[in-house]
Amino acid sequence: MINLICLDKVNSTNTYAKALLKSGEPLKPYTVIYAKEQTAGRGRLGRTWHSKGSDSLCMSLIIPSYQHSGITLLCALGVYDALSKMCDTELKIKWPNDIIAGNKKICGILTEGVNSSAVVGIGINLNCISFPEDIAYKATSLKLLTGKVFAPMEVAKTVATSVFAVLEQYHGELIAEAINKYSALCANIGAEVEFGGKKGIATAIHKDGSLIVSTEDNEESVSFGEVTVSGIY
Ligand code: BTN
Repeated sequence: MINLICLDKVNSTNTYAKALLKSGEPLKPYTVIYAKEQTAGRGRLGRTWHSKGSDSLCMSLIIPSYQHSGITLLCALGVYDALSKMCDTELKIKWPNDIIAGNKKICGILTEGVNSSAVVGIGINLNCISFPEDIAYKATSLKLLTGKVFAPMEVAKTVATSVFAVLEQYHGELIAEAINKYSALCANIGAEVEFGGKKGIATAIHKDGSLIVSTEDNEESVSFGEVTVSGIY
């Protein structure tokens, strides 16, 4: 059973969750921070995360005593499981943890560490039918995919429960079974990718969660940063 802390408005659910962890206040297991409105959402690599009231879902899961580098990939599997049950469209994961439909993004995940715990921030485009100009070419929503309107808090509960279930199923480790499942869903595998000015073909996921890319010269392990996939974004 998740412990959902609901906020009307917050700068960022990740920032709030990190402050809560730093305060040392005892937290119930499966604590999730959910906000109806987020005013300064943060994305990966220092980017801004755009959200708009009930058109978007913003939440952060607190995972205590967690250090394994593969956690963010396991969380993507949990989000994938939940979202793929909500729409008929085939969804995929773009490494490390974007959930995509076709060549557009429906969900982003920002994982941050606090001491030995992790905060996993999940942003889902729920009921949006338009996006700011700079992201319109690469964003879609559950509403655009299904024609249905989704209740943010209900989706939050479903997605959080699914993520915690995946973490338990694999005992929080990126074991071979989890890597196999992730790899089968990963849009990068077998595709031409670009990272840090280099090009190559993504071939596999390492057990530490990094993406193995075969370049002209050698095999590289990419553990951080932007990896663009040819034909996606
Ligand atoms: C990304 O794709 O760059 C990650 C986006 C993560 C956005 C979510 S929304 C809830 C949580 N709070 C934040 O400030 N960011 C994450």
